[in-house]
Formats: sequence, C-alpha cells, structure tokens
Amino acid sequence: MATPVLSALEFACRMPKAELHVHIEGTLEPDLAFAAARRNGLVLPYASEEALHAAKAFTDLQSFLDLYYACADVLRTSRDFADLMFAYLERAHRDGVVHAEIFFDPQTHTARGIPFDVVMEGLNAGRVEGVRRFGIGSRLILCFLRHLSEDEAFATLAQAQPFLDDIDGFGLDSSERGHPPSKFARVFARVRALGKPVVAHAGEEGPASYITEALDLLGAVRIDHGVRALEDPAVVRRLAAEGIALTVCPLSNVRLCVFPTMKDHVLPALMAAGVRVTINSDDPAYFGGYMNDNIRAVDAAFGFDGAAWAAIGRNSIEASFAAPADKARWLADIERFAVSVGIKP
Ligand code: ADE
Ligand code: ZN
Repeated sequence: MATPVLSALEFACRMPKAELHVHIEGTLEPDLAFAAARRNGLVLPYASEEALHAAKAFTDLQSFLDLYYACADVLRTSRDFADLMFAYLERAHRDGVVHAEIFFDPQTHTARGIPFDVVMEGLNAGRVEGVRRFGIGSRLILCFLRHLSEDEAFATLAQAQPFLDDIDGFGLDSSERGHPPSKFARVFARVRALGKPVVAHAGEEGPASYITEALDLLGAVRIDHGVRALEDPAVVRRLAAEGIALTVCPLSNVRLCVFPTMKDHVLPALMAAGVRVTINSDDPAYFGGYMNDNIRAVDAAFGFDGAAWAAIGRNSIEASFAAPADKARWLADIERFAVSVGIKP
C-alpha cells in the first residue's frame, strides 16, 4: 500500500463515525447558558462566561454533577432545548459525526416544573433542523437519574408514554456510587417489555460488579464508560466474548479524576483484551471538548495507528441503534475513506 496521505490522527478526525455517549445537558456552552438565562430573566451564579468556565475544576463525578444540574436550570422553554440540540449537532457534524445517540435527563427538568412535552418539542425541533442543515441523524435515549428512587423512574416512564415514538432507548446516569443497577431492575424490565433497548452507565466510578448487574439485571446492550471493568478480569473476558460495546469518554474520565492523566487511561488495555470500545464526549461543554478533541487527546497519549482508529470508527457504527442500511453505508464509507487516503482499515 502507498504511503498514507493523511496521518492516522487526521484520518480519525475526518472519518465518518457515530457518537453514542453524549448528554444534551452536558453540551450547554457558557454562551448559550448566558443567552438562555437572559431570555428567561434568570441570573446565573457566575458573573461571566469566564467565571463559569473557571468553575469547571472537578474532583469527582459528584462535583461535576452539582454544577451540571445548576446550569441546566436556565433551560426553560422549547426554544432553549432546540438551540441546545442544534448547537450540539452542528458541532458534532464538524467532527465527522454522522449519527448521534443523545441522552437526556427529563427528571432534571420536570422536577423544576418544566413540562415533559416542552423538553421533547424542543429537542425534536433541534434534531429536525440538524437533519435538514447537516444530514446528521440522531436518536434520543431517556436516562433515569439513579440518585432518585425507582418509583420516580416509573413516574417518568409514565410521562414518557406519549413520546415513545421519539425515544429510541433508555439509560441510567447520575451519581453512581451507592446507586447500583439492581435498584432499577423492575423499571428496566418494563422498558424492555416496551421493546426499547437499554444502556447504562456502569463502572465509571462504581465497581466492575455494577457492569455485571447492568448486563444481567437491566438487560443493557451497551455499557456507558465501563472503564473499571479491568478491575475484574472475568468481566473483561465477558465483555469481549459477548461483543458488548463500551462507550468510553476519555476527557471526561481525566477531568473527573477517574484516571490521573490520559496516559493512565485503560483504553489501550481494553482494546488489547478484545473489548469493543468507542470514543465519545459525554459532557463536552464541561470536560474540554467534543468528539475530535477526545480523539486528539487519545492520540497524544497513545498514538494509535490508522487501523486502530478505523476499528474504533466501525465499532461506533456497529454498536449504534441506527437502521441496518445506514450502518452498512457508513461502514462502507469508512472503508472507502481509509483506502482513499492510503490507510489499511
Ligand atoms: N450525567 C452527565 N454526565 C454523567 C456522567 N459522566 N456520569 C454519570 N452521570 C452523568
Ligand atoms: Zn455519561
């Protein structure tokens, strides 16, 4: 094969790919937050965008969640949610994302008196505009907040009932420690009975056993984060054998002190063990970057070759909930792009 005309990093940044782990509330950039606050007659507890930015020095997941939920308070109207969604899709499109599966936390909004339909109307308007302007496809995944009760999750599922055509899956997020997947076994049984796929945050700050619980008790088909799997070799072997994808979020893990530096991240070890990994941005407005910022940070730490990046790109498409025909087309696009730039996929 001829010498590649693109570096492995440039190839990774430009290849078509899916983002499978991004919280729409975590894409709230300071400029949008201040604009929404102004429109809604609210005052953020930060004097400027710079002051808000400076507050993003986190020590763990909870220290981040405290700020994340506080900032979400400026989201009040359908327009706020539409602007948020459209801004994310525009930004993701610039990073070569062709399909995004986007978490939203309705309980964060309904608890403040924002009606469920206001949230859905806004998110859907932004998605429609994303397809129209950039051809970027998206799916919505409703996450239950695990620091709340299972009864509250059931109430949220009841509120979601009229919108099930627009909700493509269900997940579990928020404070992991002390809130095991087993707490939500019954509500996820109901979700599965509705025919919706299940994903769950597990093994981010919580132990590897939470990954096993998410698979066995919730029926999760993907694990969000899952990086602590490596603490139990049996869990790693199972993930590899069953082809369970992990939606890994490298910048998030470093910013939330799961690993001290990117060089300490277990991504290469997971790949070496045969686990299907994908790379994602989680809460890009809080953790220093979007899809390609994560790719650049991983490249700087580990310098993957083009074949490794092509595999990560393929994993993202294959592990998505996109239609089979779309998946086949994007997989062929990755292959064709790799060959065209002299990278062996
Ligand atoms: N909600 C938003 N981001 C999250 C994360 N990284 N872990 C758990 N819950 C979240
Ligand atoms: Zn997350």
